[in-house]
Amino acid sequence: MAAISPSAAVDDAFYQAADIFFPAQQGVALTYDDVTLATQYSEILPRDANLETTLAEHLHLQIPIISADMDTVTESRMAIAMALNGGLGLIHYNMPERQQLSEVTRVKYHVHGLIQEPIKVSPGQLIGDVLTLIDERHFSFSTFPVVDEHDLLLGLLPGHVVRPRYATRKVSDAMIARAAVQTIQEAELHPDPIGRADRFFTEHVGIHKLLVVDAHDHLRGLFTLSDIERITQEKAAPFKPARDSQFRLVCGAAVSATRNSTGQLDQARILHHVGALVDRGVDVIAISTAHGFSQGVGETVRLIRDAYPALPIIAGNVTSASAVHYLAQCGANAIKVGQGPGSICTTRIVAGVGIPQLTALYVCGKAAHESRVTIIADGGIAKSGDIVKALTLSHAVICGGLLAGCPEAPGQIMEINGKLYKQYRGMGSPAAMKAGSAARYGHSKDTTRKVAAEGVEALKEVSASLDSVMTQLVGGLQSGMGYLGAPNLPQLRTRARFSRITPAGQRESAPHDIVEVKTGSPNS
Ligand code: XMP
Repeated sequence: MAAISPSAAVDDAFYQAADIFFPAQQGVALTYDDVTLATQYSEILPRDANLETTLAEHLHLQIPIISADMDTVTESRMAIAMALNGGLGLIHYNMPERQQLSEVTRVKYHVHGLIQEPIKVSPGQLIGDVLTLIDERHFSFSTFPVVDEHDLLLGLLPGHVVRPRYATRKVSDAMIARAAVQTIQEAELHPDPIGRADRFFTEHVGIHKLLVVDAHDHLRGLFTLSDIERITQEKAAPFKPARDSQFRLVCGAAVSATRNSTGQLDQARILHHVGALVDRGVDVIAISTAHGFSQGVGETVRLIRDAYPALPIIAGNVTSASAVHYLAQCGANAIKVGQGPGSICTTRIVAGVGIPQLTALYVCGKAAHESRVTIIADGGIAKSGDIVKALTLSHAVICGGLLAGCPEAPGQIMEINGKLYKQYRGMGSPAAMKAGSAARYGHSKDTTRKVAAEGVEALKEVSASLDSVMTQLVGGLQSGMGYLGAPNLPQLRTRARFSRITPAGQRESAPHDIVEVKTGSPNS
């Protein structure tokens, strides 16, 4: 074995690897601001740091950042923006189940190259009917394939004739006849449909829609020039969108351990809803509760795992090794760690429980390694440096408060004293529990019963778009990896060396003894 140089031995003694540092602090729970990371010899430039992470066999992200399943953080708009940035959005469950299905559908059908079920019209319809359809379903396009009742292609209704002045004309009178419509055979798309469509649009100047037909001229799909251009541009982007095997954006959905009126787990309802989510193409189910080390959560995980052996499941939240082991045994792939660190959480104050994040991540990580599951650090991330620290002990982070001010988060903007704010509330706050999330905290929605709230209702200052916030967060993460000489996330986990800091060290870590005129925060 090569001898360790004297200088390396000094470093190792003062800046310790996780397996030395955390056991030495037994009995004291630490969080992000309690520690700092030592820099290491580096051969990598921050911009070259690779941020890919695999949370389960079928769940691979380009960046390890997930937006929280909270009703003031993630609906389809946020989930689309997160996936386009390479991360993942978890659609919350504080809405009717049917609405959650539509939210997932919106993400999965955002832009995926070949539109397999294009909206079609029939030759006998009036242009006025088509205008009503566009209005009712809020379509942003007005060109439609025309088919008969067996999907045989008859023509194309171009957008420029879909006008009120032609409302009484029949589609068949206004459409471009089949013989003049450009199509491509389905069989010709193999093996690179996007590349083939891209070539077609280059060769056919001015054509913006390409219809795909089978050998008998039945309509099988549609490419649009704008979708293809967006997808081809992505190839050059530093972080590619997170997509599934069919090139659709990835999307997660949270479900709760729903109980029926007798207090039993409502197995039929859970399975029916998860089945519908799977039909819509959901990539991962998150069973999100405040206490994941509980029979109800374990049974729910088992139920879903038995029904869907290959479906990635995230379960939580927990803070102990035994809890990770339990949920892994039940069939979860990724475990959410975090009880009480969230910016809107009052669990530690109300119930007196919870463990500061870094110690919780270390303890949970030990069991995760043995059980072959991954760890997600959920809550308490206030700055990009916290993401770097969290990822030394986990495979991804979940952010709520950091993203709640973005225009992509649900909720109205309000103005107070000339400043713009958006609502951000804990899922255990009284209003959120009334809206449906009570089960997450082991309560019923019935407000006549005594229920201890475990979250607050708050405001976040409106921030820049999610793209800009992500640029800051990802840039900070890559800087941290550059300082540690870590070309990828597994290396970040092995190269991290920790040191505790005191309150004086914390003061030194932030801007001090100056008059600050402009902050470097993503919100500025
Ligand atoms: P951040 O710090 O990112 O935290 O705003 C988001 C995470 O906080 C959790 N969460 C809660 N925890 N009471 C709690 O104790 C609540 O009302 C509550 N609402 C959300 C959740 O894990 C989320 O991802």
